[in-house]
Amino acid sequence: MNAGPAVDTVRRQIAQAAAHAGGVAVLTGAGMSAESGIATFRDAMSGLWSRFDPAALASEEGFRADPAQVWRWYAERRDGVRGAQPNAGHRALADFERRHPGVLTVVSQNVDDLHQRAGNAGTIRLHGDILQDAWLAPCPQRRGCGVDQATPGEPPRCADCGNLLRPAVVWFGERLPAQALAAAETAARRCRVLLVVGTSGAVWPAAGLAAIARRAGATVVIVNPHPSEIDDEAHACLRGTAAQLLPRLLASGPDLD
Ligand code: OAD
Repeated sequence: MNAGPAVDTVRRQIAQAAAHAGGVAVLTGAGMSAESGIATFRDAMSGLWSRFDPAALASEEGFRADPAQVWRWYAERRDGVRGAQPNAGHRALADFERRHPGVLTVVSQNVDDLHQRAGNAGTIRLHGDILQDAWLAPCPQRRGCGVDQATPGEPPRCADCGNLLRPAVVWFGERLPAQALAAAETAARRCRVLLVVGTSGAVWPAAGLAAIARRAGATVVIVNPHPSEIDDEAHACLRGTAAQLLPRLLASGPDLD
């Protein structure tokens, strides 16, 4: 594919959609933050799941089997997120929202906070927030758990019942937060253009948003240097990175604004 004209065509479609409330939606995945130095999950050499076992580190069973190992793994990832900065792709999305209030909905599978820090404060988070904690189980005494003195390298426990704190992310086998998913589906149904940026399309229900948008009449455009599992849902696949392509696709220009 000759990327130049395709980028110009999509840029025009986005500019037209920007005349409508809710006209543009963006679904992002780990590739969105790759150029900020945060590892993806499924890239063959650098992806986390090529080096670590998702069943051990990203499931309730894995956490119950070895809470300290999982807690330490997330502590390292939290440090990575805190040390990372939004890249040119995040900044282009935030700049677009400032220029076109009410037009853009960002839906992210990412558990980092780089969209929020760039300026897209209303980003819908489908898979939770790695910087927050949540209780593993509801408080058995229904009084609300309280954190005991934490042992370094281990998850804090409730002083009363032993309940453990865990990272507030969605693990395999868990449901997505219902409100976030409903808002994401509404955005997909309502938009005129859906950009799908940096996701393998391997994890559902997030991957299904492309089909929802397409069925509702939106133009679906994938931004990814490599093929994804949902390329068939797209009207165009732009082969490039988030930091390269989003500034071009979302640019203002005398011919467009
Ligand atoms: P994956 O790691 O599955 O896919 C990352 C995608 O980003 C791949 O298709 C890459 O080709 C692409 N990519 C890499 N670098 C890029 C760049 N600079 N610009 C654009 N694209 C790039 O990540 P996700 O699709 O986000 O779940 O994975 C979905 C979910 O699986 C994650 O949210 C996570 C994981 O288990 C939870 O944490 C709950």
